[in-house]
Amino acid sequence: MSKVEIFEVGPRDGLQNEKRFIATQDKVALVDCLSRAGFRRIEVASFVSPKWVPQMADSGDVLRQITRAAGVRYAALTPNLIGLEAARAARADEVAVFASASEGFSRANLNCAIEESLQRFAPVMQAAAQAGIPVRGYISCVTDCPFDGATPPPAVARLAAQLRAMGCYEISLGDTIGRASPDSISAMLRAVLEEVPADQLAGHYHDTGGMALANIEASLEYGVRVFDAAVGGLGGCPYAPGASGNVATEAVHEWLAGMGWQTGLDRDVLAQAAQLARGLCEGEG
Ligand code: HMG
Ligand code: MG
Repeated sequence: MSKVEIFEVGPRDGLQNEKRFIATQDKVALVDCLSRAGFRRIEVASFVSPKWVPQMADSGDVLRQITRAAGVRYAALTPNLIGLEAARAARADEVAVFASASEGFSRANLNCAIEESLQRFAPVMQAAAQAGIPVRGYISCVTDCPFDGATPPPAVARLAAQLRAMGCYEISLGDTIGRASPDSISAMLRAVLEEVPADQLAGHYHDTGGMALANIEASLEYGVRVFDAAVGGLGGCPYAPGASGNVATEAVHEWLAGMGWQTGLDRDVLAQAAQLARGLCEGEG
């Protein structure tokens, strides 16, 4: 049977959007449950400015307090060197830089132009390479931007090539506001695949428009075999208006299993984690 990996991003991409501060011990309990589900990679932390994303301010404590499972890599976002140093101190197994394919979102999310964000990532890439830490690269707004409208596929391809050349081992393609369709995802992938092979790509599709599974299906056709998802369908992005709702891990798992793909995940543990995740966010709008 053919394999697909789900990269769990709920504790980071999911929880970062929650307005009520979630206690560190509750985040740790969620990660510990996810660690039993069979993931190879779980994004648990984000070393960004606590003024920008207060929910992630305890990222170091989360990484220090989780019970690490053998064979699982615990990942963290690191937009600059301050973030990378904090991630190293907390023993993140891998880190991620994150850029935008659109200028409007780059400004809103990173407070700088796309080109400047790449300049900020350069020392992160260098220091991570010296420390032997793998770096993933995210691209936001790969088809649509809440500020600039439709994103031209060549812009995504160019940025993907740049991130790869800088040393990112995988490029995660984000439909940040969940507005993509199988057609727009396919057009974007055709352009990106001219620069980066499918085995170095991941799909990161938010489900705001209810199209995430269809977009995963379209991406499978192009050879993409890694998909980001958030248990319980948590989250969104605090700097992308209307970006609520990552595609739910358990829904992706069920759908893939139904189509005959193997994810290596334990459905019962996933259900427990989804219940935990939803409990953490009860009462949120
Ligand atoms: P800035 O204000 O331009 O940068 O923010 P700065 O260097 O002038 O720093 C401002 C303050 O932040 C300073 O503190 C720094 O020390 C501090 P002050 O002097 O004011 O007290 N600072 C930091 N503190 C902790 N950790 C750090 C750090 N860096 C600076 N790493 C910055 C630039 C990048 C910091 C800011 O814009 C920021 O934190 N942005 C992050 C926004 C964010 O986290 N967004 C959500 C994640 S991305 C996402 O969700 C999309 C994704 O899921 C894919 C998709 O769906 O598309 C990945
Ligand atoms: Mg996201």
